[in-house]
Amino acid sequence: MSLKDSRKIVITFSRADENYPAVQLEVGNTERLGDIIIGYTHADKHHIEPVNPYPKGYKACCDQALEEKENNARPEVANPLDNLDNYDTIFFGYPIWWGEIPMPAYTFIEKLNFAGKTVIPFCTHEGSGNGGTFKKLQNILTGAKFLKGIEIQGNRVDNSKEIVEKWLTAIGF
Ligand SMILES: Cc1cc2nc3c(=O)[nH]c(=O)nc-3n(C[C@H](O)[C@H](O)[C@H](O)COP(=O)(O)O)c2cc1C
Repeated sequence: MSLKDSRKIVITFSRADENYPAVQLEVGNTERLGDIIIGYTHADKHHIEPVNPYPKGYKACCDQALEEKENNARPEVANPLDNLDNYDTIFFGYPIWWGEIPMPAYTFIEKLNFAGKTVIPFCTHEGSGNGGTFKKLQNILTGAKFLKGIEIQGNRVDNSKEIVEKWLTAIGF
């Protein structure tokens, strides 16, 4: 079955509110990037919500995220998926937090079986790129086939439609 005809979902973790560089986001950068992907592929959407929302202030959020990273925490997710049975192709998107995948995103993926799925990672960041997280995901999501991901600077997401569409075409959409 072609990628285009496969059953697709875009799963994102993303945070709205105050972000670097001094912007207030109504919808987080990664979620908006995911929406561009959905616009092109007509994939379903699932947005990961933590049980305890992150602080609205950028600095407070950074402090909490660092503590969670250092403790290798697994913050609870309010809307986990029971399984991925309805999907063949999973776009998985997140922001880079302290060079890492945010801890609630780990909570979410570790409960699921990705074997036999095609996974396409994407992330937003403010300079560090994916920070090796695409590779890390490949090691965690055993049995999945990975396609080339994309990393976009957060404050460029709204100007990235063309580049995203080129990437999607290149990987087979
Ligand atoms: C807690 C926190 C930690 C961050 N750490 C990094 C980082 O290590 N490297 C980087 O390039 N950007 C970092 N950023 C910037 C975000 O990756 C970037 O703004 C991203 O687009 C936010 O996506 P979102 O709106 O989907 O949450 C950090 C932002 C936050 C809130």
